[in-house]
Amino acid sequence: PLARSLSMTSLNGLPQWEDEDLPVEDLLLFEVSWEVTNKVGGIYTVIQTKAKITADEWGENYFLIGPYFEHNVKTQVEVCEPPNPAIKKAMDTMKSQGCQVFFGRWLIEGSPYVLLFDIGSAAWNLDRWKGEFWDATNIGIPFHDREANDAVIFGSVTAWFLKELSCQFDDKPNIVAHFHEWQAGVGLILSRSQKLPVATIFTTHATLLGRYLCAANIDFYNNLDQFDIDKEAGERQIYHRYCMERASVHCAHVFTTVSQITAIEAEHMLKRNPDVVTPNGLNIKKFSAMHEFQNLHSMYKARIQEFIRGHFYGHLDFSLENTLFFFIAGRYEFSNKGADMFLEALSRLNFLLRVHKSDVTVVVFFIMPAKTNNFNVETLKGQAVRKQLWDTAQSVKEKFGKKLYNALLKGEIPDLSKILDRDDITIMKRAIFSTQVIVHPEFLSSTSPLLPLDYEEFVRGCHLGVFPSYYEPWGYTPAECTVMGIPSVTTNLSGFGCFMQEHVADPAAYGIYIVDRRFRSPDESCNQLTQFLYGFCQQSRRQRIIQRNRTERLSDLLDWRYLGRVCETINRGIKNSRHTVFSIMLQCKETFLF
Ligand code: UDP
Ligand code: G6P
Ligand code: GLC
Repeated sequence: PLARSLSMTSLNGLPQWEDEDLPVEDLLLFEVSWEVTNKVGGIYTVIQTKAKITADEWGENYFLIGPYFEHNVKTQVEVCEPPNPAIKKAMDTMKSQGCQVFFGRWLIEGSPYVLLFDIGSAAWNLDRWKGEFWDATNIGIPFHDREANDAVIFGSVTAWFLKELSCQFDDKPNIVAHFHEWQAGVGLILSRSQKLPVATIFTTHATLLGRYLCAANIDFYNNLDQFDIDKEAGERQIYHRYCMERASVHCAHVFTTVSQITAIEAEHMLKRNPDVVTPNGLNIKKFSAMHEFQNLHSMYKARIQEFIRGHFYGHLDFSLENTLFFFIAGRYEFSNKGADMFLEALSRLNFLLRVHKSDVTVVVFFIMPAKTNNFNVETLKGQAVRKQLWDTAQSVKEKFGKKLYNALLKGEIPDLSKILDRDDITIMKRAIFSTQVIVHPEFLSSTSPLLPLDYEEFVRGCHLGVFPSYYEPWGYTPAECTVMGIPSVTTNLSGFGCFMQEHVADPAAYGIYIVDRRFRSPDESCNQLTQFLYGFCQQSRRQRIIQRNRTERLSDLLDWRYLGRVCETINRGIKNSRHTVFSIMLQCKETFLF
């Protein structure tokens, strides 16, 4: 690797270490997040997809820090001894004081090292750590906020570890720690307040207030500078979380976010302009056969068709050949993810398809986990019940036929209102009800007995991903569609949508439809979305195949190998500087900016 020098100039009046030649081989990089080996949402995707390229660059000096959950470790981590003696020593010290720490290789591409802290084993320190956090920041954490309490424990053990580690190096500071989102931020705040010789980066993937205010259907983007942020946070009972987030942002040597739109949001909500914008990438794998992704589409589409056949057993009154599969996916944030607008657009689309007597049927999937009880068993029963009802209908028919025949034999016309008894009517009502709404509210998994496909396979089998988000700092879902050659709808309020608008001359021609949710009324945006959907339905199979080829061609633009360098051109402050930010995202190729 290049021998990069470490130079620390002062930013925001922070301490300064003068130019020192410190080759990268001597640096240790820690990336800290609640989503390391622990899938919650898109942050997991950031870390997991970036691991390969970061491990290639940093080799044995790269470590991820996250929370320990037994199930995650059992399924994703190969536990081993830390090869680095300083890390082992720091871990041993912590273990000897009752904090369980696990070390191993995370079994994903790049197999990076992970250090996982057992939050439960350290929880007995909570009151003391909350006190110390209060002394350092004057931020008090209410006892009932479990997530915030976990963040204090996680942050305290992270800072403890960094302290045990750094005190073993007596000459030069050689540790970089990159923290993601407020849940990891306490570690950063404490590292700074304890004056640990650690270079800190904080990346925010959203702002707490942004997410809350948007979810409350407030006209957020037109009023960014109007909010009384302390009051808003207080009213939503997230003031302490907001303070943790804001303190992390202001304590960091380098502050980054994932898109320009979130940079502006951060400036208003968190009162600091990010130093760097680092658009999220993916780890792109090219198939040796160019059209392999088209074959995969065909293959997985057949699996989805099979599911539909099972689901509508006995009621399938449309042609699967002429059926398009649309889907929306993400956390259950109904209006932030644009599920509300999508539903309304679907109703408008339905109208258009009917009046134009289209022979196309659209089946739509909402892939969103939501609270439920025993849905798998219930829905499986649902499938079986449906078949049962079909059989029942056959037997009702037979009963009806017999009664009719007997009446006719007697020379009577039977009373048709009495020919079916109460049970027959009940059964038929159930048949009608059970076909009205179809709910299996969970994320996809290849082990689900219902639709045994993992998320990637499912996406490949669909025709169009629809993500009309109102609040979406980046938005991995349309990006993932793109690299799989599946067209998608996004918006100009999502980091991804804005990025594509900026980098691709005519995104729609490549199957990236960008709904304008910024300068149009909701009704107009919804009409635009409807037109996109209707236009898509009018395409021939051949046109869809050509479009998929074009979509897939955009993949390189979303590869970490490219995006790792993009921030240099995006960030005005750093672009022409000899000093760039040394982050794990590779934008920072030469030196530290402190
Ligand atoms: N996802 C998943 N399984 C599903 C649906 C979604 O693994 O059934 C993943 C998806 O691949 C994406 C992430 O969840 O990487 C969602 O990230 P995004 O940035 O779109 O939204 P966030 O949830 O972070 O707001
Ligand atoms: C892929 C396959 C083709 C198939 C097509 C279906 O391109 O390689 O063999 O005909 O998918 O496309 P559709 O958009 O109708 O699912
Ligand atoms: C957040 C955002 C999402 C983004 C992800 C990764 O969870 O909601 O838009 O893609 O982080 O940065």
